[in-house]
Amino acid sequence: MNKSIAIIGSSRRNGNTGKLIDWIAGELGIGIIDLSTKNISPFDYEHKNADDDFLPLIDQLLKYDNIIFVSPVYWYSMSAQMKTFIDRVSDLLFVEELKDKGRGLRGKVGYVVCTSTSDKVSDSFINSFNNTFSYLGMEAGGIIHVNCENGFNPDRCRNDVVDFIEILK
Ligand SMILES: Cc1cc2nc3c(=O)[nH]c(=O)nc-3n(C[C@H](O)[C@H](O)[C@H](O)COP(=O)(O)O)c2cc1C
Repeated sequence: MNKSIAIIGSSRRNGNTGKLIDWIAGELGIGIIDLSTKNISPFDYEHKNADDDFLPLIDQLLKYDNIIFVSPVYWYSMSAQMKTFIDRVSDLLFVEELKDKGRGLRGKVGYVVCTSTSDKVSDSFINSFNNTFSYLGMEAGGIIHVNCENGFNPDRCRNDVVDFIEILK
């Protein structure tokens, strides 16, 4: 089985970020899970949402070595869909029966694929992923950021995409 999987959280699946990950995933022959198609509710201290799509999704992700987090930059941060998913990872740290799954994330390699309308991706965006990977015992594998100020233009990012694909091969 392929060792990489991508999860995308964007407010439009076929927007700039979607086009970027479709290209990368197509080259690598890997799957993409769209968080917008999942029923994942915000973190609940009482875990009354334990039956939503979060745990089956985690079980699926744990089968892979590399997890590619795909998000546009929205207000210097990750998308709300991605943030909701990452908040729920807290379930794996707090709920006794789920702690094995949380430990299962240790040693996985996290990658970030993102777009924005700036030349440089905000530190706050990058740090939120890198700090999360570090807290969970994951390794930070690499990032690709594409400036989509004038829409997604493959010619502007071809070299970066080729380099990024190379580290995941
Ligand atoms: C709600 C919202 C907030 C945004 N915030 C930022 C930002 O803080 N910095 C930036 O460079 N671009 C920002 N943008 C631009 C998007 O990052 C950019 O258009 C991106 O390519 C959109 O990807 P998508 O088509 O997957 O939504 C924002 C766009 C939206 C809709």
